[in-house]
Amino acid sequence: MQTLHEIAPLRERLRTHRLAGQRIALVPTMGNLHEGHLALVDRARESADVVVATLFVNPLQFGAGEDFGQYPRTLDSDRERLTAHGCDLLFAPSVETLYPGGLGTQTQVHVPNVSEGLCGGTRIGHFDGVATVVSLLFHLIQPDIACFGEKDFQQLAVIRKLVDDLHFPIEIIGVPIVRAADGLALSSRNGYLTSDQRALAPALQQTLAQCRSALASGEPPGTILAAASQTLEEAGFRLDYLELRARDLSPFEPGRDAEAHLLAAVYLGSTRLIDNVAVELPQPSGADLRHG
Ligand code: PAF
Repeated sequence: MQTLHEIAPLRERLRTHRLAGQRIALVPTMGNLHEGHLALVDRARESADVVVATLFVNPLQFGAGEDFGQYPRTLDSDRERLTAHGCDLLFAPSVETLYPGGLGTQTQVHVPNVSEGLCGGTRIGHFDGVATVVSLLFHLIQPDIACFGEKDFQQLAVIRKLVDDLHFPIEIIGVPIVRAADGLALSSRNGYLTSDQRALAPALQQTLAQCRSALASGEPPGTILAAASQTLEEAGFRLDYLELRARDLSPFEPGRDAEAHLLAAVYLGSTRLIDNVAVELPQPSGADLRHG
């Protein structure tokens, strides 16, 4: 697997693949790769001739006081993992290479509506940073397909709308969440957890699974979410949000949406964890739906 850090040689290499009529898949990452990222590479490998991964810790998507400086940079082990999974090319630019004019004057992309609320409600500007870097990578690499994890469910919705609105000829593939044996969704941020926090963390997924069962059995969503919020807080999580949305992340409407999505963000200490689960409601009710 070749690693490139500059744009000109990246374009040159991709040009040869395009001239050969090869199908290109993109897997954008911020590195510190785990099995969740490698599932994206495996999925990309299934549908393309050439798999390009990117590794870039994108400063534009971190807010003030977030973990940009602390975010783990593990290029050597990431390279080994990508190579073992058949990735063909790694593009790992510097901040100066992607944003040569500096961050303050960088043209940014805003995806309305779907960027608002949930993680966008707490991490102000986060999805503008994501939409900007993903647009840049789409322009530079011009892939036929791009793979993103469903753990970042709102991010996936933002990217789908971005691709629709800007007419990128790219198929977006959402890849199911990869979980540890105890159910915790894999995330680079899990590495920040103390051993006590790590032991508690799977309770988030367990709570979401309990909500899914209760929702499927027809209990009122408002009652279920209120009880689950209390359970999480009493267990030691600090709740950011626990929210039921329609599958496309528009507001959930009882009576309209039998298929919905339950999304949560919590803090354990200063570490923020997110998770989500698809839910089905036999008889939607009109109870209050947001807590936290
Ligand atoms: O999901 C991530 O790792 C990042 O948000 C992404 C899509 C690579 C953009 O920086």
